[in-house]
Amino acid sequence: MTDTLRAAIIGTGSVAVLHARSIAAIDGAELVAVADVLPGRAAEFAADNAPAAAAYDSFEALFAAHEIDVVHLCTPPGVHRPQAVTAFAHGAHVIAEKPPALSLSELQSMTDAAADADRRFAVVFQQRTGSAADHVKRLLDAGAFGRVLFATCNTLWYRDAEYYAVPWRGRWETEGGGTTLSHGIHQIDLLAYLLGDWRSASAQLWRQDRDVETEDVSTGTILFESGAVASVSTSVVSPRQTSSIRIDTERATIEVDHLYGHDPSHWRITPAPSVGEEEAASWAFGSEVVASGHDALLESVYASLFSGSGLPAVAAEPARALEIVTAFYVSAREERQIGRVRVQSDESLRGALESPVVDNRPGIDG
Ligand SMILES: NC(=O)c1ccc[n+]([C@@H]2O[C@H](COP(=O)([O-])OP(=O)(O)OC[C@H]3O[C@@H](n4cnc5c(N)ncnc54)[C@H](O)[C@@H]3O)[C@@H](O)[C@H]2O)c1
Repeated sequence: MTDTLRAAIIGTGSVAVLHARSIAAIDGAELVAVADVLPGRAAEFAADNAPAAAAYDSFEALFAAHEIDVVHLCTPPGVHRPQAVTAFAHGAHVIAEKPPALSLSELQSMTDAAADADRRFAVVFQQRTGSAADHVKRLLDAGAFGRVLFATCNTLWYRDAEYYAVPWRGRWETEGGGTTLSHGIHQIDLLAYLLGDWRSASAQLWRQDRDVETEDVSTGTILFESGAVASVSTSVVSPRQTSSIRIDTERATIEVDHLYGHDPSHWRITPAPSVGEEEAASWAFGSEVVASGHDALLESVYASLFSGSGLPAVAAEPARALEIVTAFYVSAREERQIGRVRVQSDESLRGALESPVVDNRPGIDG
């Protein structure tokens, strides 16, 4: 048990602002230092978001000056592994932004380093959080909706050339993958959190418009151990943006339609004709409304760190979504379905995700 945790944020770009806000709202959490490799960027960030925090131009300088209990990795995914391993060696817990690593083998080495140091390693898949996802998961797990038959999972976003002008984006070496790894992974993670173990997956990768090495669209299928099948579409070329999951079961259709976060108002449960009114009414979302997001995730992770208990389910199992995304990329390469057992056991699949992309841009021979 502890009642104070000293935090540091590494990488003070866009997502770091959400971490600083969430830390500020947690009793006993203190953001003592921030670091970024771009000279002056950390100081500017501290002035705007955390005036009490010291600012450094390197991760190493920050660690030389401070004892840190919790490191928030808000850096590009290509540097998460070395930074996490260093943080664990300094005795800190790590909360890493998604995707946690560029490959499953990198992720395994991070998980191993956390275990060796007896520290916690949490990954930010914040779509799992919030009272609505929790409610639906409890009903699904209790069997209230019967067997899950079919699901759709769509991440249809819009990212333009300016977004991809940031040097680490759109490249296999530094982003690790395309929109499936960077954007679709959120909804894929929520879907798999709700539906449980998956058995196999297949996908194709497409480059429809953007000037990137990776894919800007992917189309995939996931078969779950329960027999449920899901169709998964991910895009960064979709002007009307949406993040949505629809789950058709024997007894209901469960839907969430949002963009970057959800609360009960974004969810709908439609009973099948055979379900009585009283039972359908019992599925209603409760009066407690907790929105999904960094606040909910970091609050529950810090609660577990204060109490010394294991990580909450919303921040545990960092590999599940990355395993599915890995299966998608390997499937695009091998042009066949890829099983979970193979992804988990075949070291050759656990390296970099680089995969062939069908290029449909006009004038380009894909
Ligand atoms: N959970 C979410 O909803 C969400 C949203 C956006 C981004 N992300 C993830 O957060 C991470 C960062 O994304 P972003 O959009 O904030 O990127 P960004 O480019 O805006 O910020 C990254 C920052 O890290 C700094 N940096 C790079 N290498 C560094 C190093 N070695 N040491 C210290 N600082 C370094 C950069 O200078 C930059 O300021 C990515 O993994 C991304 O996928 C998650």
